Amino acid sequence: MAITILIADDIEQTRNSIKRLLSLDPDVRVIAEAADGKEAVKKTIELKPDIVLMDINMPGLDGIAATEQITLRAPETSVIIMSVQRENEYLRKAMFAGARDYIVKPFTNDELLDTIKRVYHIDKEKRSGLLRRASCTDPQVITFFGAKGGVGKTALAVNTAIALKQATRSNVVLVDLDLQFGDVAAAMNIKPQQSIAELVQEPPDAVVDLLEQYLVEHKPSGVKVLCAPFKPEQEEIVTQADTERILNILKEDYQYIIVDTSTHFSEAVLTALEMSNTILMVSALDVLTVKNTKLALHVLQTLDMHGKTDVVLNRTDETMGMKSQDLEDALGYKIRCTIPANGRIAVPAINKGIPFIITHPKTNIGEAIFRLSNSLIQGIEKPSKKKHKRIANLFGLFS
Ligand SMILES: Nc1ncnc2c1ncn2[C@@H]1O[C@H](COP(=O)(O)OP(=O)(O)O)[C@@H](O)[C@H]1O
Ligand SMILES: [Mg+2]
Repeated sequence: MAITILIADDIEQTRNSIKRLLSLDPDVRVIAEAADGKEAVKKTIELKPDIVLMDINMPGLDGIAATEQITLRAPETSVIIMSVQRENEYLRKAMFAGARDYIVKPFTNDELLDTIKRVYHIDKEKRSGLLRRASCTDPQVITFFGAKGGVGKTALAVNTAIALKQATRSNVVLVDLDLQFGDVAAAMNIKPQQSIAELVQEPPDAVVDLLEQYLVEHKPSGVKVLCAPFKPEQEEIVTQADTERILNILKEDYQYIIVDTSTHFSEAVLTALEMSNTILMVSALDVLTVKNTKLALHVLQTLDMHGKTDVVLNRTDETMGMKSQDLEDALGYKIRCTIPANGRIAVPAINKGIPFIITHPKTNIGEAIFRLSNSLIQGIEKPSKKKHKRIANLFGLFS
């Protein structure tokens, strides 16, 4: 199959001459053209070309901003920048925005085709997962926790998982540890045949080989999901040892393991918290949530997990009488990220099972999720936070 190409350049003559060059090689096929960055992003999302040849200087949205958008919103597509000699500083920015390679104008037919084919083949290999293991050297377990139902744990976990997948193209799995009333499957319109409850009834030694079969792929995003039990009474069969085994196996193959939880400290939730690199405590600006958040943070402190815990403030709407600064003061924690209240988008998204990050990435709430996911991606490079002690002997606190 030919490598599909989109050419983005504001000068029609340039587009035509590139098209002519490429028409000589049956391995590549130009499927679209764009005269500015905005059109390039739109057509890339629609047509999913393998490669975008992107000019830097274009009116409106320039090539760098367009590259950034494509990296976030159409990660399967690779961008190659076309620049002229004096644009070195822009080139650096373009590579930082996610461009895969660049080519300096004027270029020969061979230079252009070599670059296209090299980028295509490297990225194809990546996509097919051949480099998967190599990329999981520092797997991240990120748990969304919260002290009150309805605070937005599931909405944030689902949308953040998809944003991480889009931004990094790495393997992302979402584990629903709200073992009684898990609703990740509903929020993503997934119809699982089996859940974590059946998985943990397999012989422990077989779990390593069987786990992948228990994951359901959320097709629109490529995020894998381990669904919660279908019946609330099955909560208890998922033990500390099961949770530890499952998360350890996932860490072999997945770069990001996102865990959604219930509001109570079950064995499974405590184990996930213990094994997390980052705990995101979802809170909101109402007095009852703040009170419970404070209590839950205190527990995490007792368990020596506060060093890796950050507060995410959901549904911010400062007309409600409380400000985020008030929350920081009340909790004694800095807020890592604020997510605006936008019921018009968030609620129908949950009801329809289509996460808003897919349908409304450019809204205030969509952009806030991308900010959160970018902070998690960058967080990997941060020095590791405080060491935490094992909690096995602390289960007693809650029994
Ligand atoms: N930022 C937000 N703005 C508006 N509604 C939100 C927001 N975050 C979540 N919601 C809505 O609140 C409801 C409860 O969220 P959910 O994620 O199920 O909470 P939890 O998992 O903590 O119980 C859902 O209908 C969800 O769409
Ligand atoms: Mg939930």
